[in-house]
Amino acid sequence: MTDPNFEIEAQRLSLTFFDPSNDSHCDFLVELYNAPEILATNGGIAPPIGDREAARKILTGEQDERLRSGDMYGKYLVTLKSPPPSDNDTPSLALHQYGEKIGIVTLNLRKGQNSFTVPEIGYWFLKKGRGRGYATEATGALMKYLEEEKGQRELFGFCNPDNKASKGVLKRLGFEARGIATLKTFGGIVGAVWARPGMNEDLSVYGV
Ligand SMILES: CC(C)(COP(=O)(O)OP(=O)(O)OC[C@H]1O[C@@H](n2cnc3c(N)ncnc32)[C@H](O)[C@@H]1OP(=O)(O)O)[C@@H](O)C(=O)NCCC(=O)NCCS
Repeated sequence: MTDPNFEIEAQRLSLTFFDPSNDSHCDFLVELYNAPEILATNGGIAPPIGDREAARKILTGEQDERLRSGDMYGKYLVTLKSPPPSDNDTPSLALHQYGEKIGIVTLNLRKGQNSFTVPEIGYWFLKKGRGRGYATEATGALMKYLEEEKGQRELFGFCNPDNKASKGVLKRLGFEARGIATLKTFGGIVGAVWARPGMNEDLSVYGV
């Protein structure tokens, strides 16, 4: 089992690994992957998850791989640490409460012949967790943890060139736009490439 005490704390948020034995974690993954607002923008790279047991299988596979390799890849569950400040003009946010699950941050290094040599971060938030800076805060906390605790500074962010919300997160986190590329590890889709400052201008050194 992944260390149950592992947690990355951000100002308003908590990041943990998913626990595949926890039904509520599995159910949240199903909810997220089936949410219309997620399906609308994910370009088919994260198809809907059928049910709790299908989610459990995915999360167990990720956990096993982490235990085997000792690496940090996979999905991080993002929960609210405390209620957001009262916000009368955003009624849905009044539903927020301690421990509410609002999204995930991902860290991936795809394996295989066409793999890149630097991991990529991603973020997927339910509608109710958007528009408050949570995605930026959660991803920033993971980046800080990776740099300070794991020495992993180099990171990519990939997104659909039309995905303004995703670009916004990358910009706020200080990523630099490095053009458009065919992303071999995503089945050859064309995507915008963002990299952290200081990374080589020639992306081919990373296999991009
Ligand atoms: C991409 C995604 C995570 C961005 O969510 P988001 O909430 O817009 O991003 P942030 O957390 O950075 O929040 C920024 C917004 O919160 C607002 N905000 C409100 N309070 C804030 C606060 N205290 N701090 C920071 N920002 C705050 C900002 O002004 C900004 O609003 P704007 O976009 O209207 O300018 C979300 O759209 C999503 O899940 N999309 C579907 C999945 C997806 O496409 N993922 C990317 C794949 S590459």
